[in-house]
Amino acid sequence: MTDDERQTLIARAMAARQWAYAPYSNYHVGAALLASSGKFYDGCNVENAAYGSSICAERTALVKAVSEGERQFEAAAVVTDNGGSPCGSCRQMLAEFGLDLIVLLLDSEGRTVRDTTLRELLPDAFTPEKLRRDGRSL
Ligand code: THU
Repeated sequence: MTDDERQTLIARAMAARQWAYAPYSNYHVGAALLASSGKFYDGCNVENAAYGSSICAERTALVKAVSEGERQFEAAAVVTDNGGSPCGSCRQMLAEFGLDLIVLLLDSEGRTVRDTTLRELLPDAFTPEKLRRDGRSL
């Protein structure tokens, strides 16, 4: 990821946060993904009166990207009030497309609280290869 891409990724996640629909938790999250194609995809959390039907910002961005044909990703940025870390479901959904993903966690001031990888956030991940007896990629 270039410095320009990193800045754009962060800006996209910060901007997406304004669209968070979080009337129940009031915890507003913005996320952005940089696909290997060079395109950016962003998303926010969208809550629901049936709480369990809510979706996180990271998964919103991911399903937007995958539903437009993307399968490979370089980096993700997540912006919250306090640099919160992606939930287990989001880590698992992202892991489907590779553990080498760079993950930047930022607070609402745009400060990078953590610069890590999905491999570090989700050790011993269950990945698509596990579903093949020969262990090869699907
Ligand atoms: N949330 C996210 O969107 N991403 C995270 O990384 C953590 C949690 C959302 C889910 C819910 O709408 C709110 O934050 C509080 O859990």
